[in-house]
Amino acid sequence: MSGISAAFLALSGRQCALRNVAVDGHSDVGKHQDMLPRIGFIGCGAFSTSCLYPSLRLLAFGLEPYGSEPEVELVACCDMDGRLAERNARAFGFKRAYTNHREMLEKEELDTVFVVMHPQLQPALAIEVMESGRNVYIEKPPAKTLTEVRAMQEASRRTGRFCQVGFMKRFSEPYVMAKEIAGRPEFGQLSVYESRKARNAPYPPVYDYLNDFVCHHLDLARYFMGDVEYVYAELVSRTHDPDKLNARLFEREDVYRNWASVLRETPHVPQSDGYLITFRFTSGAIGVHNANTLETDTNLLERVTLTGEGSVVTVEDWYRVRAAIKHQPPFSWEPLVIDKSLEARSMHTGYLGEIRELVAATRESRRPKAATIDDGVACLELVAAVRASIAEGRRVALSEVRTTELVA
Ligand SMILES: NC(=O)c1ccc[n+]([C@@H]2O[C@H](COP(=O)([O-])OP(=O)(O)OC[C@H]3O[C@@H](n4cnc5c(N)ncnc54)[C@H](O)[C@@H]3O)[C@@H](O)[C@H]2O)c1
Repeated sequence: MSGISAAFLALSGRQCALRNVAVDGHSDVGKHQDMLPRIGFIGCGAFSTSCLYPSLRLLAFGLEPYGSEPEVELVACCDMDGRLAERNARAFGFKRAYTNHREMLEKEELDTVFVVMHPQLQPALAIEVMESGRNVYIEKPPAKTLTEVRAMQEASRRTGRFCQVGFMKRFSEPYVMAKEIAGRPEFGQLSVYESRKARNAPYPPVYDYLNDFVCHHLDLARYFMGDVEYVYAELVSRTHDPDKLNARLFEREDVYRNWASVLRETPHVPQSDGYLITFRFTSGAIGVHNANTLETDTNLLERVTLTGEGSVVTVEDWYRVRAAIKHQPPFSWEPLVIDKSLEARSMHTGYLGEIRELVAATRESRRPKAATIDDGVACLELVAAVRASIAEGRRVALSEVRTTELVA
């Protein structure tokens, strides 16, 4: 096992010391000793079933085949489609399945609840969960608009519950390693950020490519380089929709809840776009990100390069790490290709690490050291600044977005 993997596995103890305690230690409901964090889950869709539920199962039933202690209790999952709720309860070991989230929130004792679905649907449910006294995990992007993401931030502050956002790349092994290398004194001051992320398929129009997909790398830029002072952005669009087919998708009332079948049944035009986004960070460093849906190769899709002073570290294809620091031997690392276990994949991608941190934060009644709704707000502010820059052909300061309520 790599040092990074060991660090993830060493992240936490096993028992939940305090329950129903507002984050950062303000007790309000009560204390329950020696219990595991109790998890609820709303949404049994395609992504959560393939990437999040398996990590929870690993934490509930042991990371090793013999003898490891559970870290979490899987209480109940919920989907409006009862077959999906029953399926996920059975497959991942949740005790009960629901079709109505309110009934689940009323009947079950839960500490933290996942809300994973289209960003159009997440904000109202996330706020309801926090108002019921539970912490919440939502997927990236947290919302479609700045108004909604700020409402979630306000609810988190008002209720004292944390709202973690699924920017899991922050927990991905190669990116954790790159950040550690770039933080060494001999790396010098971080000066230039360069990244690319292409999709090897056009993007389905029920999601917004910039807000809903590019957001991963807007967050990564902040994770590595800190806050952004201003952006300048350009767009090239090869999406041809003269008959406005895509608008018709949104005439279907179930488009956000049932988007995969709506796409199968309704003619539409995928988004074929490219964005070039340049950054000036508040640290003085500069950066650029190329995001596009115009490529077909499955390699060469993702790269992040950090330049210091006499130093560079790069992560190629979300996989291989290479670094060169003046007066030091070159460094190179890649995951063991022979290890195809679910644990290895979840560790590499970051899903296991982010969920493990959420569980530890729940148990310890503290804010997670992961992306929170504050990072979600920062991300949607960046999206708004990019849109404004493209529309107005000028560089846009983040301070303008904060004061003028530009809408993402
Ligand atoms: N982190 C990543 O790399 C990554 C990758 C893909 C998708 N995502 C994010 O994941 C989310 C989508 O997840 P998915 O693909 O699992 O979702 P999905 O759209 O496939 O399924 C959502 C499920 O939620 C259910 N649902 C909706 N409203 C409900 C309610 N009020 N009560 C109970 N159930 C309800 C629906 O019936 C549906 O089964 C999006 O936010 C997307 O941006 C993240």
